[in-house]
Amino acid sequence: MRLAKYLAHSGVASRRAAEELVAAGRVTVAGARVGDPALDVHEGSGVAVDGHRVAPEPREVHVLNKPTGVVSTVRDTHGRTTVTELVPSARRLYPVGRLDADTSGLILLTNDGELADRLTHPRYGVEKVYRARVSPAPVPERALRRLRDGVDLEDGRTCPAAVRQLRPGLLELELREGRNRQVRRMCEAVGHRVLALERVAFGPLRVDGLPVGESRRLGAAEVERLRGAAGWKNRQP
Ligand code: URA
Repeated sequence: MRLAKYLAHSGVASRRAAEELVAAGRVTVAGARVGDPALDVHEGSGVAVDGHRVAPEPREVHVLNKPTGVVSTVRDTHGRTTVTELVPSARRLYPVGRLDADTSGLILLTNDGELADRLTHPRYGVEKVYRARVSPAPVPERALRRLRDGVDLEDGRTCPAAVRQLRPGLLELELREGRNRQVRRMCEAVGHRVLALERVAFGPLRVDGLPVGESRRLGAAEVERLRGAAGWKNRQP
């Protein structure tokens, strides 16, 4: 198996981040530093990261209803609670994409680097649904149309999105991209400030019924549906 894939299966990082670990010189095979993420390795090869041996482990996917104030990283330099601290698991999980600290709602955590890559890669366009409370309210039809058609942000025009006003000042936005602070910047661009933001769905999963701050492990059928949403049904074991 390729080294980067082996690291991803070992719960070390996503496939892309694993390549960065290799490039940074943190990965050794049988004690020797390696620079080629495509190197062919297996469990007997003696793969280590920062001197610690790693091996493929069973893969898990958890869904968390993230409270505000919690950061979507594995570690926080400012001592804030992280999403991984809220999800009980013996595995080293990491978040699939990010939610801002001041955003609540559905976030996935996994040790399956390949699935994480697919779910966040723009090519697969997995749908994310957000509810944003904005000010001033209501949002006029002209602004809603701009949000739907695409608004010009500093990192380019946003893709067409489904946007509804559920009640005055409460928007539901369905996006297939995941740029940094995208919903907040889109709303600002049409003259409305986001006061509160929640992600209510990610692909086929909805946050309904999961209390804020709680998580649960997905069952095999749910993981299969997620894979399907990422255009990937026939995974090799
Ligand atoms: N868009 C944002 O602005 N923030 C998030 O956390 C997610 C999407």
